[in-house]
Amino acid sequence: MKIEVYESPQEVAQALARRVACAVRQQPAIVLGLPTGRSPIRTYQQLARMHDRGEFNASTLRTFNLDEFVGIDPSHSGSFRAFMEHHLFTPLRLLPEQVEFLNGAAPDLDAECVRYEAAIKTAGGLDLQILGIGANGHIGFNEPSEALQPRTHRVTLAASTRRDNAALFDGDPERVPREALSMGVGTILDAAAIVLLAVGDKKAQCIERAVRGPVTTRLPASFLQLHRRVELFLDRSAASRL
Ligand code: GLP
Repeated sequence: MKIEVYESPQEVAQALARRVACAVRQQPAIVLGLPTGRSPIRTYQQLARMHDRGEFNASTLRTFNLDEFVGIDPSHSGSFRAFMEHHLFTPLRLLPEQVEFLNGAAPDLDAECVRYEAAIKTAGGLDLQILGIGANGHIGFNEPSEALQPRTHRVTLAASTRRDNAALFDGDPERVPREALSMGVGTILDAAAIVLLAVGDKKAQCIERAVRGPVTTRLPASFLQLHRRVELFLDRSAASRL
């Protein structure tokens, strides 16, 4: 793993946005895998600024997001789709055909997962997967458990994850859906390159375990040790235990 440590979350965002913009310039039809959460917001803002300055062209890239809540419409203000529209898709003026998303309101959720895997395959696979990390070591919504699902699947969210996502639902963890759809760990590891972003001391312990600990389903991010091209973008706090 290549580990880059920056002074502040803002510097992490600038470095990661430069990394992504550079990848888009080199490969204009790049297929990006994208995360939600608080951590990538600064990076998305920085990408929007760079795009406004004409530093890269977003008109031919494609995106697949990692996950989505079950049981809410994509237009719901708490959906990850709405989050991404607000923070990235609208600022980059992406067209609907550039964006693939899991639909947590699909009538047949198993079929929706199969559709998503097939769409990633048809797009030629993910070229660059950007990841955040949950405070419990989850990636996407692959929660710590006895066993992990390799492919896109339906998941039950941990109570701590529902609390961490409460801001999207007026601060009320009870309103956070109990289930989600998520790319599997195998879907993520199939990406040609992976970049993981973590800021703040709440992430220090799981970053230490992800990098130094054994590969275990109890810490899904530890599976990144099995991939050849992983870069970690950390601030000092997140890297403090390394
Ligand atoms: C959610 C997302 C994850 C993300 C995590 C971290 O649970 N499903 O993909 O990594 O949040 O969120 P934050 O960056 O807000 O700590």
